Amino acid sequence: MTIDTYRQNQLFIGGEWVNPIDGEVVPSIDPSTGKEWAYAAWGGPKDIDRAVTAANEALRGPWSKFTPNDRANLLRRFASLYEKHVERLAELESRDNGLPIRDTKAGVGMHATWYNYYAGLANSIEGRQVPMDAGMHIYTTRTPVGVVGAILPWNAPLQMVVWKLAPVLATGCTIIIKTAEQTPISSYEVAKIVQEAGIPKGVVNIVTGLGPVAGAHLVSHPHVNKIAFTGEHRTAQEIMKGASANLKRLSFECGGKSPHIIFDDANLEQAMNAATHSGFTGCGQSCALGSRLIVQSTIYDKVVAELAARAQKVRIGQALDPKTQMGPHTHQEQLQKTLKYFELGQQEGAKLVTGGKRLTELGDGFFVAPTVFANVNNKMRIAQEEIFGPVVSVIPFKDEDEAVAIANDTIYGLTGALWSQNLGRAHRVAAQIEAGTVWVNTYRYLRWSVPYGGFKISGIGRENGPESLEGYLETKAVYMNLSGNYADYYAQ
Ligand code: NAI
Ligand code: MG
Repeated sequence: MTIDTYRQNQLFIGGEWVNPIDGEVVPSIDPSTGKEWAYAAWGGPKDIDRAVTAANEALRGPWSKFTPNDRANLLRRFASLYEKHVERLAELESRDNGLPIRDTKAGVGMHATWYNYYAGLANSIEGRQVPMDAGMHIYTTRTPVGVVGAILPWNAPLQMVVWKLAPVLATGCTIIIKTAEQTPISSYEVAKIVQEAGIPKGVVNIVTGLGPVAGAHLVSHPHVNKIAFTGEHRTAQEIMKGASANLKRLSFECGGKSPHIIFDDANLEQAMNAATHSGFTGCGQSCALGSRLIVQSTIYDKVVAELAARAQKVRIGQALDPKTQMGPHTHQEQLQKTLKYFELGQQEGAKLVTGGKRLTELGDGFFVAPTVFANVNNKMRIAQEEIFGPVVSVIPFKDEDEAVAIANDTIYGLTGALWSQNLGRAHRVAAQIEAGTVWVNTYRYLRWSVPYGGFKISGIGRENGPESLEGYLETKAVYMNLSGNYADYYAQ
C-alpha cells in the first residue's frame, strides 16, 4: 500500500505530541517527483528548550531507577515492535529521502537486530576494582553521560536514529533527536514506537528544525551534556565551537572520500561488482562510498570501460518502484552540488566517460546519471572533495607504495578497501590505509557489533560495537577507606 500523504503537525517532546512554540509546520518534498508530499512540524529554540527540560527531568526521574536489565528488556520490546513497522518505515523513508525501496526494506529490516544487540550491551556495562594500598578499596563505575543532543543527516535518517538511540537506551542517557530538515518524516514515525514500547516520558524527544537555529541552540545549550553528530565536517567544526561553553562531549561522523584500490591480481569480476555498487548506491549519498577508485595501470583501461558499461545499466527510477536500483538525490541543494562537480571535473581536465548530467526525462525529481571520470589526478577537487553524488573518480597507480600514498593523500579517513588475491599484500596495505574501516575483497559490509568511525577529519569516536558505549558514559572512581583511620596530617 502506498502512503499518499503524511502530516505531522506536532513535535514529540516529553512523551507527548505538542504544537511548536516558536517553530512552524513545513512541507516536505518527495525527491522522486520534486513535489511536496508531506508536512512536518519544525521546532525553534523554545521548543528545543522544552525538549532539554524534558530530557533532564527524565534523566533524574524514573529512568534513573531502571537497572541495566530493565533497559535491556525495554530495548528488546522496542526492537520487536519496530520489526512490525518495517514495511511502513521503509516506505516513509523512501518517499521522503529517495532511497530505493529495495534498499530501505533491507536496511530498516536490520534495525531490530541493532536494538537487540544493544540490549545485550546494556547488561555488559561494568566498572573495575583497582588493587592498591591496604585498607583502601578502589573501584570505578560507569554512569550515563546525561542528555544527548543527536544531530542527524538526511542521507540515511532511520539508520542514524538507531546508531544514536540504541546506545542512549543501553547506557541510561536521554536524547533529543534533531533530524535533518529535508527528511523529518520517518523519525516521527519512530516516536510512535517509542510511545508504544512504554519508554518513559522524556527519555526520547524528536524535534526537527533548521540546523543553524534549532541545531545550533541544542549545541550551545548548557543543560545538554553531549552532541552526537553525523554530517559535514564544516558543520562539526561549528558544533565544536558552539559546544565549547560547557565542554560537551562530542562524537562526530563526518563523511569521506574513500580509496577503493584494485590491484591487477584481483578477482576482477567481483571487484567490478563492488566498484559499481559502492559508487552509485543511494545516488552516491553515503559517507562510505568508493568514490576514488584507485586502479593499477596494467588494468586501468579495462576497469574504466567496464565501470562505464555497468554505470549505464543501473536502473534509475522512482524510489518506491521495487525495480529501482538508484533513486534521486534527496534534495535540490545536493542535486546542484553534484551538477557543479560534473562541470568542475571536466574543467580540471578529467575525462568524463559516462553520465555527467541531470536526467530530466524522469520528470522533476532530482535524478542524475551514474558518472565516471577517468584520467583523474588525486590533486583534483573531484578526487579531494566529498561530492555525495554518484560520481566515481578513477585514478591510476603503478605499485603498492603509490597506491597507499594516493589512498592516504586526503583529509578524510573513514573507510577504504582493496582487492587483491595476495594475502601478504592485503595485510600490508590494510595496515597502512589511514581509515577507521578497511574492507578486503568486499565492500560496505557493516554490522552492529563492529566499531565504525573515522580517522582524521572523518570524525571523532566510534559508533556500533562495544566501543560506541564509551561516548555515552562517564567513568567515576570511588576510593573507599576500609581501615577506619584517617590520620591528622597536622598533628606534628
Ligand atoms: P550538514 O552537516 O549541514 O547537516 C547535517 C545536520 O546538521 C542536519 O541536521 C543539519 O540541520 C544540522 N546542522 C547544520 N548546521 C548546523 C549548525 N550550525 N549547528 C547545528 N546543527 C547544524 O550537511 P548538509 O549541508 O546537509 O550536507 C552537505 C554535505 O555534507 C553533503 O553534500 C555531504 O558531502 C556531507 N554530508 C555527510 C554526511 C555523512 O554521512 N557523513 C551526511 C550528510 C551530509
Ligand atoms: Mg549544511
